Amino acid sequence: MAHGLPGVTTTAKTGGDTAPAARVTGLTRRFDGRTVLDGVDLTIERGEFVALLGRSGSGKSTLLRALAGLDRGTNGGLEVSGAVAVAFQEPRLIPWKRVRANVALGLRAADPAAAARALAEVGLADHGGAWPLTLSGGEAQRASLARALVREPGLLLLDEPFSALDALTRITMHRLVLDLWDRHGPGVLLVTHDVDEALLLADRVLVLDGGRIAHQSRVATPRPRHRDHPDLTALRATLLERLGVTPEGTA
Ligand SMILES: Nc1ncnc2c1ncn2[C@@H]1O[C@H](COP(=O)(O)OP(=O)(O)O)[C@@H](O)[C@H]1O
Ligand SMILES: [Mg+2]
Repeated sequence: MAHGLPGVTTTAKTGGDTAPAARVTGLTRRFDGRTVLDGVDLTIERGEFVALLGRSGSGKSTLLRALAGLDRGTNGGLEVSGAVAVAFQEPRLIPWKRVRANVALGLRAADPAAAARALAEVGLADHGGAWPLTLSGGEAQRASLARALVREPGLLLLDEPFSALDALTRITMHRLVLDLWDRHGPGVLLVTHDVDEALLLADRVLVLDGGRIAHQSRVATPRPRHRDHPDLTALRATLLERLGVTPEGTA
């Protein structure tokens, strides 16, 4: 996919290729003279699950949009391997197209069997003929994931995809995303403001601050993870501190 960004090169995914899923070097973005991204360096390995934390307005969505090729105002180096797919907080389904047709929008060439397979994978096999407005919030987000995965991306970008869902649906979606990631193996960048979500899902958790990746923690805890695992408790404290959140009970 051609991003059309300055300094951007893209490479096609091939069997012997060991290029990372994405590599960003010195990525800079200014809005009206204000620097939001200030030379971000980031590599996402193939099949690696990376979570990106940061305060509201720290530039998380700006970085994700750059990786998605949706922002032409970015400077710096950006390389991605294979197809890139994005899912946002809002499912962004087209209301006048049935669910099946919405999923097929993720494909370059019509392939009804692939769309049906993707729907089955997210548990919506029976909803292909439904209209988006008849879906629950969780179902609509599943359809959005199916549309992203149907193109077998090398890089899957998720911008707070679960924040609008209720707590129980969110747990189900976490399991689904891990299951899909396991089966398809894309590199993932998950933007979230939820430290626990990052710790439950990711191999590596980054904190964006001051326009750069200011901190990273590796999460080696085997999955499925429980939020009370001692390793995660320690990492949670570190990450909250990095985010400028003071623990309860202290000043
Ligand atoms: N298109 C835009 N025009 C002007 N300012 C923008 C634009 N997009 C984002 N910003 C600004 O850049 C900063 C980072 O935004 P964003 O990446 O959406 O933050 P986050 O996703 O971390 O909450 C914010 O101050 C936001 O107002
Ligand atoms: Mg955002």
